[in-house]
Amino acid sequence: MKLFLDTASIEEIRTINAWGVLGGVTTNPSLLAKEGTTPEARWKEILTEVQGDVSLEVTALEADGMIEQGRRLAEMGPNAVVKVPMTPAGLAAATELNKGGIRINVTLVFSPAQAILAAEAGAYCVSPFLGRLDDVGSDGMEVLRSICDLYAVQGYDTKVLAASLRHPMHVVDSALAGADIATMPFDVFTKLVKHPLTDLGLERFTADWRTLHTELEGEAST
Ligand code: E4P
Repeated sequence: MKLFLDTASIEEIRTINAWGVLGGVTTNPSLLAKEGTTPEARWKEILTEVQGDVSLEVTALEADGMIEQGRRLAEMGPNAVVKVPMTPAGLAAATELNKGGIRINVTLVFSPAQAILAAEAGAYCVSPFLGRLDDVGSDGMEVLRSICDLYAVQGYDTKVLAASLRHPMHVVDSALAGADIATMPFDVFTKLVKHPLTDLGLERFTADWRTLHTELEGEAST
């Protein structure tokens, strides 16, 4: 399972990229609004900074507008994936853009039925939003499992991108469910690496290493 950052912050991307495990980036209009910079300039920066796929979301609400915007976004870089919402207009745009070889991420997916539509429209990937389902008292992980299972049964090529992840166990359970990609905010990514026993273990190794060297230096000077 590839690990993506859900962000429009270059600083966050650089930090995780330095670990060598960043598979790609997803952005959305809210994340770009938080940055307060021109979206076009930021999209270009991200596309250059990241080797893997970068999802860029259309903001038009009608199919024609999405198609026009989607074509422009796809031209920004070979790693650009165009994000369209799970609406009738989004499906029409996905189908049309897909004919031109543009890779589509169908976003704002909350049910297995919607995921079937995304696959039938030829989407490159589908983004079920787990955390937002949990927020309204549904079981986001159960929805993800059903989507992974039904894609396997039907032999769909569309990748499953687990989105709206809120904590490390969302990431672990998405991997167990068979998701192809997990996208998460910076704080969840950094929590993946942390364990108190790792910190404690390293502290002890470092202290013992120092003690050994102090002893060896003492022996050498006698
Ligand atoms: C995915 O592509 C979305 O940008 C994202 O995962 C939404 O997450 P949120 O529910 O934390 O906003």
